[in-house]
Amino acid sequence: MARCFVTRQLPGNQSDRIVAAGHDLDLWPKESPPPQDKLIAHAAQADALLCMLTDRIDAELLDAAPKLRVVSTMAVGYDNIDVNACHQRGVLIGHTPDVLTEATADMTVALLLALARRLPEGIAAVNDGSWSTWSPNWLLGVELRDLTVGIVGPGRIGRAVSRRCEAFGMKVLESGRPGGGRPGMPLNEMLALADVVSIHCPLNDSTEALVSSEFLAAMKPTALLVNTSRGGIVDQIALAKALHNRTIAGAGLDVTMPEPLPPSDPLLNSPNLIVTPHLGSATTRTREAMATKAVDNLLAGLAGEPLPDCVT
Ligand code: DGY
Repeated sequence: MARCFVTRQLPGNQSDRIVAAGHDLDLWPKESPPPQDKLIAHAAQADALLCMLTDRIDAELLDAAPKLRVVSTMAVGYDNIDVNACHQRGVLIGHTPDVLTEATADMTVALLLALARRLPEGIAAVNDGSWSTWSPNWLLGVELRDLTVGIVGPGRIGRAVSRRCEAFGMKVLESGRPGGGRPGMPLNEMLALADVVSIHCPLNDSTEALVSSEFLAAMKPTALLVNTSRGGIVDQIALAKALHNRTIAGAGLDVTMPEPLPPSDPLLNSPNLIVTPHLGSATTRTREAMATKAVDNLLAGLAGEPLPDCVT
């Protein structure tokens, strides 16, 4: 019998499968993540850890957890995990690609449409009573048809966004992420042509603050930026400046640094900015599928079998 620490209640009661497999379940009972000291204390007793993207799995934790054999994260992104430190200690890492692709692509397009059609301003006007009448020149936005979208990081989610954009009559350009496998067109060339730039890279050393003041200056002044990947890819100070100076026309972010973004963060005073609270994968179907995959990885690791989705 192995001891498994699961850092949050899993959608679809997937943690029952851990008990059904004969393991001892240590389930963090709260909605909020375990503080780091508690995470380490629980991991120290565990053979397997099922964590979320909010849990930091670093060398200090791994050193405190000598029995740990598998870390299974309920996310496709694993920038919260020190991959080298795990591999050096022989700890396997599982993650959950594919199952959240469509939901995250939907969210990307939702942000894009909300920005392009000025939904937050319209909703606010209804709620605060400033909607006086239908007016031929009020709250005019842009339509997606015939715009060019530039996908930065055309992996699984980037391509799912491309498919949706094509259905809206948009032209799609792709540029590979730094250090990634699909080069596509040179980034600056793409930024100069794109009406919409959508970020789909993992966060790592080569993509951190990729969206810099130079990146933003290379975009059209009429262009919109959308990021549903990781907040650390955008230099938020540079973005706030670019929005205030109208270097770009607007931005929709589902991810920020940090998360949650404090309401006092100066970024939130920027014009034409929509920020949502990391909802990309937040559908019942997707979250249940992510939890299923995370438990599949965990149980495979404990059984000495290859993880269905292993970070190598
Ligand atoms: C992931 O899985 O990395 C997503 O960001 C979760 O929404």
